[in-house]
Formats: sequence, C-alpha cells, structure tokens
Amino acid sequence: MRKGRLISLEGPDGAGKSTVLLALEERLRQDGIDFITTREPGGVEIGEAIREIILNPRHTAMDDKTELLLYVASRRQHLREKVLPALAAGKLVLMDRFIDSSVAYQGFGRGLLVSDIEWLNQFATDGLKPDLTLYLDIEVEEGLARIEKSKDRGADRLDQESVAWHRRVREGYLSILSKEPQRVVKIDASQTLEQVISACWARLQRECE
Ligand code: TYD
Repeated sequence: MRKGRLISLEGPDGAGKSTVLLALEERLRQDGIDFITTREPGGVEIGEAIREIILNPRHTAMDDKTELLLYVASRRQHLREKVLPALAAGKLVLMDRFIDSSVAYQGFGRGLLVSDIEWLNQFATDGLKPDLTLYLDIEVEEGLARIEKSKDRGADRLDQESVAWHRRVREGYLSILSKEPQRVVKIDASQTLEQVISACWARLQRECE
C-alpha cells in the first residue's frame, strides 16, 4: 500500500535541476523529514546499467523507439526496486526526472507519438503519478549557455542535440504543464539560484504538511 509522497523534479538541460536537488535534500534533512532522492534513468544497479547504454556518446546508431523503451525499462525497474518500497515505508521520494521526461524528450524532442508514451508510462508505473512535479523552466538559449559554462559536466549523447531539439523539449514540458496544472508547478529557473531553491522549497513544504 502506498503511504509516502512522490515528488518529481523536471526541466530541460541546464535549468539547474541537480544543484536545486542538492539544496532541497539539505533542507529536508534539516527538517528531519524521512526521504530519499533518486534519479532516472538509473537509481538502481540495473537502471544505472541501462543509463550507461542510453547516454553513451558512442551509441549514435540508437533508434528513437529503442531509446524510449530503454528509458521505460529503467523506470519500471527503478520503481519496483526503490520507489515503491520507499513509498510503502511512508517516505517522501524526491525524483530527479520521471514520466514527464519521456513525453518531453522522446515525444516532443524525437517526435514519437505522445499517446504511445503515455501508454508505456502507464504500463511501467501501473498508473503511478507524482503527487507534485516541480518543473524548472528556462529559455533554451540560457539553458544551453549554462551547460556550456559548467566545466565539470562532459556532454552526453542527448546534450549533443540541436537547438531545435531543445526547443521542442521545452515545448513538451509547457504542454504537460497546461494539461496537468494541478500536478505540475512551473518554477522560473532564470531567477537567482537562491530564489529558485526558495520557490521549490515553499512548494515542497506544502506537500509535506
Ligand atoms: P542527466 O545527465 O541525468 O541529465 P540532467 O542532469 O539534465 O537530468 O541525463 C539524463 C538525460 O536523459 C537528459 O538529457 C534527459 C534524458 N531523458 C530522456 O530523454 N527521457 C527520459 O525518460 C528520461 C528520464 C531522461
């Protein structure tokens, strides 16, 4: 039985998701909230192995549907092994990417049918959706400029896509936002990092009450 809360963090590349996640972890810890953070693709051994296949820059021959199926496979395994047990134990689960990434990247980015992806997501998760999704929104050029600047982060296979691709991904997120405004909250990620973190934290706290 499900008792915990599931929160996902989403956004295009360069929105600052990883930094925000670290800051949120810190605050959750300080508040004594029982939580785990985890990421997609990956999060568990099998998921991390799938992640390596997907993001390897040498895998330029990867077919779009293969890519989608790998993300969904990783999602299923991660959910069964890590997310569902944590929720059953009443924990708050903070996820770095989840179902919306597949719609934005493989649907809008790659041009695969969104209805197929929604079905696959449903299949992999048995219909589980986040209680709350924090979507960090950033203009494409600004996001890409930030990736360019961060020296410690080598480009993975998806970072090497065109500006047009990144634009479509953002459109995908905005479309999800307009479809599910109760679940998805847009955070303006062009603000200062402190402001972005505060906005996310305020929303997250409401969820923990
Ligand atoms: P990662 O290095 O975790 O990127 P980020 O720090 O931006 O989250 O790599 C994950 C990449 O996988 C990222 O470019 C988004 C992409 N992705 C999809 O295309 N579909 C998906 O379903 C998921 C979960 C991620």
